[in-house]
Amino acid sequence: VYDEAAPYYDLFAAGRGRDADREATLVLAEIRRLLAGRPLRTLLDVGCGTGAHLPRFVEAGLSVVGVDPSRSMLRMAAERAPSVELWVASLPDLDVGGRRFDAVVSLFSVIGYVSEDGGLAEAVAAMAGALEDGGCLLVEGWVEPEFWIGSTVGAEAVTTPELAVTRTVVSGLDGHVASLHVRHVVARPGERELTTIDEHHRLRLTDPSEVEAAFAAAGLTFERLPHLLHDGRSVYVGVRT
Ligand SMILES: C[S@@+](CC[C@H](N)C(=O)[O-])C[C@H]1O[C@@H](n2cnc3c(N)ncnc32)[C@H](O)[C@@H]1O
Repeated sequence: VYDEAAPYYDLFAAGRGRDADREATLVLAEIRRLLAGRPLRTLLDVGCGTGAHLPRFVEAGLSVVGVDPSRSMLRMAAERAPSVELWVASLPDLDVGGRRFDAVVSLFSVIGYVSEDGGLAEAVAAMAGALEDGGCLLVEGWVEPEFWIGSTVGAEAVTTPELAVTRTVVSGLDGHVASLHVRHVVARPGERELTTIDEHHRLRLTDPSEVEAAFAAAGLTFERLPHLLHDGRSVYVGVRT
């Protein structure tokens, strides 16, 4: 997933009116509150994708590393934020070569992709392991079980002078794991045929009590912020003690 369809990710985000700068500003304010005067110089963005939040983090004077399993997403991030170090790495193991950061963040559904039983605890432990002592972890959860509204369908379309693209989704739930079948259809002027990209996303619903247990097991304090970024998806913060 997030491979061939990567070039269209930002188009759909813009179409939904996403304001990633505002999200990054809220995230930084939250981290600073948690750090309580301890310096914030380095930040790791896990699952940075196309780098939506990276320019704001850089603007704030931070030395930033972004990691993502998708090279296509990282290519877009490199265009958007050329000064940021970008590596291929993924949860739950997250190999960052022993580097430590003042803050580690994971934003906008990334943690949902760790769908195996026990994977969440492993992923949180790996992110906590990349923190300096006293450093702050901020994880945005995916949809919580109580906000899952059942099998849904959706479709979006974006048109620019260069292309027209649709994104159609059907979702269902197997136990705790949602299954999203996504089809992109792309049309470009001058091309006689449409390009079709099919993806299957598997995302684990984020159970706040599972996250709390994972933070405790990783030696982090725990706070749940239900309304910081997106409705139905809490943000979880903690400090490495
Ligand atoms: C919805 S995008 C969010 C990207 C970015 N954080 C944002 O806010 O726009 C989800 C990202 O998670 C990445 N991802 C998927 N599985 C992952 C994993 N196991 N570990 C880390 N990132 C993962 C995908 O490649 C994709 O870039």
